[in-house]
Parts: sequence; structure tokens; C-alpha cells
Amino acid sequence: MERPIGVFDSGVGGLTVALELMRQLPKEELIYVGDTLRCPYGSRPEEEVKQFAFELVQFLLKKNVKMIVVACNTATAFALEDLKKQLDIPIIGVIQPGARAAIKNTKNERIGIIGTEGTVRSEAYPKALKQINQHLHVTSLACPKFVPMVEKGITDGPEARQVVEESLVPLKKQSNIDTLVLGCTHYPLLQNVIQDVMGEHVKIISSGEETARETSAILEMKNLLYTGTRKPKHSFYTTGDLEVFQRISKTIFKHAIDDLGNLTIEKVTL
Ligand code: DGL
Repeated sequence: MERPIGVFDSGVGGLTVALELMRQLPKEELIYVGDTLRCPYGSRPEEEVKQFAFELVQFLLKKNVKMIVVACNTATAFALEDLKKQLDIPIIGVIQPGARAAIKNTKNERIGIIGTEGTVRSEAYPKALKQINQHLHVTSLACPKFVPMVEKGITDGPEARQVVEESLVPLKKQSNIDTLVLGCTHYPLLQNVIQDVMGEHVKIISSGEETARETSAILEMKNLLYTGTRKPKHSFYTTGDLEVFQRISKTIFKHAIDDLGNLTIEKVTL
């Protein structure tokens, strides 16, 4: 089926999921919308995040998408269940896939979760993990300084190192985790720094890969995959600063765009 896949996030974080979708589904077209203007969502009340998520979904539905990927943990935690009830196209979030990937990896059953204040408060990860294995020991930590820093384009260097190091102190002190879930789609952009701070013995999990796998499985199961031979044209939208969004997109996608398709980026008002 020729219709595009819709993807949304509060900002640039979901681009890490979009990249995985492009890799695993190279013929599919993506419509991405990042609500950079109102980012971060992580410190907002549940009702507000739900409202914003509904607006982003409306935007994507007008673009005639065949499936939606909520590439934001905070919106997944607060809005996914309600959205599922209202839509007649498939919609998935990033929390279940992230939880599954963590369970696949852990050997000592001690898993760490870092995310926004909203995601941690919702306890969506511990619930998803313990539903599968109730013996898991889960330690969660909110890292509210990461998203504003990433949205400014700071993903490495001394400032990023200092913020990550300071934020992760409680996790390093308290737990003996062998697996750390990046429970916010912005955090893979800090993955090198986080890995360095946590040490090589901790496996870092970002949900993008598993989410893309699940998207692919659903499209196939529902007979919605595009089976032609086109080179896709992806359309990305930001509600905020176009220049910053373009700069960060370029860093994330590097060569991917030339190989995988064309990409246009526009500013939009919801
Ligand atoms: N990237 C989003 C997430 O995964 C949201 C971050 C934010 O807006 O605070 O939670």
C-alpha cells in the first residue's frame, strides 16, 4: 500500500526511531512531525500531553497515513491507550518494544530505566517489564536536563559529559544493572556519552530498532506493506525552529537520506 507511515514526537528525539524505520523499511515513506515548539513534554501534566498527542495524530491523519508510530515515551505512557481506542488504523508506541529488548538482554535481571519525569512517574516501564517477568529488579531515574540540551543540538563535548555524569550518579550508586533502557527517544543522541559514563559492562538499549521491527511485522500482518519499487520521499515537519531541526536531522541521518530516499523539512502550525 502506497500510503505513508506517520511518526511523531515532542521534538527531534523521534528522529532516532525514524532512522530505524528507514533502515528496516527502506521502501516506505514517512511523515514525521516533531512538536519542537512545545517541547519538552516530559515535565507537563498527563492531560496536556494527551491533548498535544491528539493534535499531532490529527495532523498525521490529514496526511492519510496508514499506521502511526508514537516515537515518544512520554506520549506513549500517557496517550497510547486512548489513541488506540479512537483510531481505526494501527498505532504503536515505544515502551513495549523497549521493554522487550531489555528483557532479551539482561542476565542478572537488574534493569535500569532513564526517561523524562512524566515517563518515570507513569511507571509504564516497570509495569511493562514486570508483566513479562515479575522477578525483575527495576530502577528508574528521571533525567530532566537531557531533553533541553539535545534540543539545542548539544550531544557530545564537555557540557554533555558533565550533565550526563551528574544526572546518572544515583543510578550508578544504587544499582548493579547490566542493562539500561533509554526510555526517552532523545537519549540515543547522547548514547556515546551515556555508555562512557555507565561503563562497557552495561548494555544500552534504545527502543528504535525493536519498534521498527514491530512496525514491519504489523504492516505485513495487515497487508499494508508497500511492495513496489519506488525510492521514497519523506516529509518531516517541525512546529518550532526550522534551522535547528534541519541541523539535528542532518547529524542523525548523515548519509542515510542519499541512500534511502529524499527528505523535505518544513515548519508547520498545528
Ligand atoms: N522524546 C520524548 C520521550 O521519549 C519526549 C521528551 C520530552 O519532550 O520531554 O519521552
